[in-house]
Amino acid sequence: MTDALHATLLADQAEYAEAVRAAVDAAAAYYGAGDSALDDDAYDRLVRGIEAYEAAHPDQVLPGSPTGKVAGGAVTGDVPHTVPMLSLDNVFSAEELAGWAAGLERRLGRPVERWSVEPKLDGLAVSARYRGGRLVQLVTRGDGVAGEDVSHAIGTVHGLPEALSEPVTVEIRGEVLMTAAQFEEACAKRTAHDGTTFANPRSAAAGTLRAKDRPYRCEMTFFGYGALPLPPDDAGELAGRLRELPHSEIMELVARLGVRTTGATPVGVVAVTAVEQVQARVEEIAAARAGLPFGIDGIVVKADLAADQEQAGFSSRAPRWAIAYKLPAVEKITKLVDVEWNVGRTGIIAPRAVLEPVLLDGSVVTYATLHNPADITRRGLMLGDHVTVYKAGDVIPRVEAPVAHLRTGAEQPIVFPDVCPRCGGEIDASQQRWRCARGRACHAVASVSYAVGRDQLDIEGLGESRIVQLVDAGLIADFADLFTLAREQILGLDRMGETSTDNLLAAIERAKEKPLNKVFCALGVRGTGRSMSRRIARHFGSMDAIRAADAEALQAVDGIGPEKAAALVEELTELEPLIDRLVAAGVTMTEPGVAVPRAAGSDTAGSGAAAADSPEATAGPTVDLPLAGMAVVVTGAMSGPLGALSRTEMNELIERAGGRASSSVSARTSLLVAGEKAGSKRDKAATLGVRIATPEEFATLVASFI
Ligand code: IVH
Repeated sequence: MTDALHATLLADQAEYAEAVRAAVDAAAAYYGAGDSALDDDAYDRLVRGIEAYEAAHPDQVLPGSPTGKVAGGAVTGDVPHTVPMLSLDNVFSAEELAGWAAGLERRLGRPVERWSVEPKLDGLAVSARYRGGRLVQLVTRGDGVAGEDVSHAIGTVHGLPEALSEPVTVEIRGEVLMTAAQFEEACAKRTAHDGTTFANPRSAAAGTLRAKDRPYRCEMTFFGYGALPLPPDDAGELAGRLRELPHSEIMELVARLGVRTTGATPVGVVAVTAVEQVQARVEEIAAARAGLPFGIDGIVVKADLAADQEQAGFSSRAPRWAIAYKLPAVEKITKLVDVEWNVGRTGIIAPRAVLEPVLLDGSVVTYATLHNPADITRRGLMLGDHVTVYKAGDVIPRVEAPVAHLRTGAEQPIVFPDVCPRCGGEIDASQQRWRCARGRACHAVASVSYAVGRDQLDIEGLGESRIVQLVDAGLIADFADLFTLAREQILGLDRMGETSTDNLLAAIERAKEKPLNKVFCALGVRGTGRSMSRRIARHFGSMDAIRAADAEALQAVDGIGPEKAAALVEELTELEPLIDRLVAAGVTMTEPGVAVPRAAGSDTAGSGAAAADSPEATAGPTVDLPLAGMAVVVTGAMSGPLGALSRTEMNELIERAGGRASSSVSARTSLLVAGEKAGSKRDKAATLGVRIATPEEFATLVASFI
């Protein structure tokens, strides 16, 4: 691609002035609240157009122009940087990259001996000051000369330890971002708090880094990309090494000090000697992008050797020894064509955007989440609007904001439903997320299908069409009704013979013996999938104990925070009549192998499988189990002694051995069991420095529990 394609053409002085105003506004929004009305591509094109106009008309350059300024001149702060925190110049194609490299070599008067190639992380630049090995201050980039003190965020940023492995004084620079998992969690917390959500991981990280008194806490991740001496300790041994070592070796040193770098990821810094190798590595990183658990918006190419960097020096805005090769944006503008309202199995009425298809991060996006009606109102969205849409890696496509200046006047208001779009009944709009007033009963087919699924009650012979029949015939309204079905009622259904009726009744009977974790999972409480249900069942041991737990008691379960605990209490209250009918039908209400404390005034034994009866017994994991306190993820094909186990059986094994089974790898994962053909989870574990074991190694660890 050529430059021209990447620049907005500005015909005259008036258009130039308008472009400067739009770019300044966009930069202020981007670096401020993180909600610019221009996507990255549009901003880059605009600034390039401004640059081209200024080059042709140097006498007309406006003093407020964003060109040549860090962060487009948008932000400032009051903590001076030891050395300016600069920006990077951009290239957009292999030709431009080769041109830049040749230009640098001309300037040096010799070939660059070594290049380093690394991802351009899509977050916020932060300087972390360590004194005597302790993290004492965190400062944002600001205008590059001075930044904002965000030390209050210390402790919420993974990868930035409060103590280094050595008591050194040093400044580490890098990017703070939210991984896809951290972003989803942050959005869930914000939605639970005020019904709104974050537009994208970058703005979520920007807001979170600055927020001082949010009632909820969101985690972020740091990746270092540079280190420099920190006065007054800038004449010591470490300072000397930081001035002399190649960039790639400084990054190794930073990692040894205990700070996270991209070194452990599939896209870590690689030093190469030829420009063709640079290009090959750029392509590798670009190809890895969609599978990374964090966002990157380009690739940074640097002259690796200190001598080359020193000689090349800096312009007012950026180093001359480094360049950013920009990748296609994961945030684009498209048109909001329609809004659909879908009812989920818990009765939640969720709006979904229908978009003019747009290519984002390697896939065509046609639908995107719109969260809830309050969020639509807050964003001021209209049908026919141009909207910014974000999708990268694991993040669910989401509509960020309307692009107000592209409105034509033909846009129409989004009509909110006034009755449930599924059953035509009343809507409960008392919460941020609207719900059919009938709750789970509205979409009984979906909630019963979920309850009888393989990982819950596992009732064979009860496929969706059979459930539709039962619901339509008025025989069941929820899954508790299954346990009181009479033989004649089933026989009366179409295509139901004696044998299949008896088989179905036997399968329903067997479901009564399922342990508490499966029964609990079948309830379909929001946010309690298989693994969370197992944790809850293991922790409390009986349904009575779960029902007796208040929000505080629920938070003792790993993975349940204040928001989830409050939502759980609310849903369990709503589910009380259904649970009572399950108890009455003789469905198991205890978890085998877990001792249940006898709560005063309550019958803790429940029904079905017997629980330990000792008054001293306490529920929950015991510390001498081999996986006590560990979060374990399984991926790939199992082999050896574990070869025959299904994923569910593996997870059950993990929990028997005291661990917590989880389906996704995060910074909190303790161990990944990776079999043959393990894919992105293995990469992610390696990225995050998570311990990895083969199925055979894992089998040895938990041998007595298999
Ligand atoms: S090096 C002297 N390396 O991109 C400037 N920057 O657009 C040295 N960024 O301000 C910067 N990943 O916040 C460097 N691997 C990386 C980076 C990176 C992201 C950010 C950084 C910088 C911005 C410039």
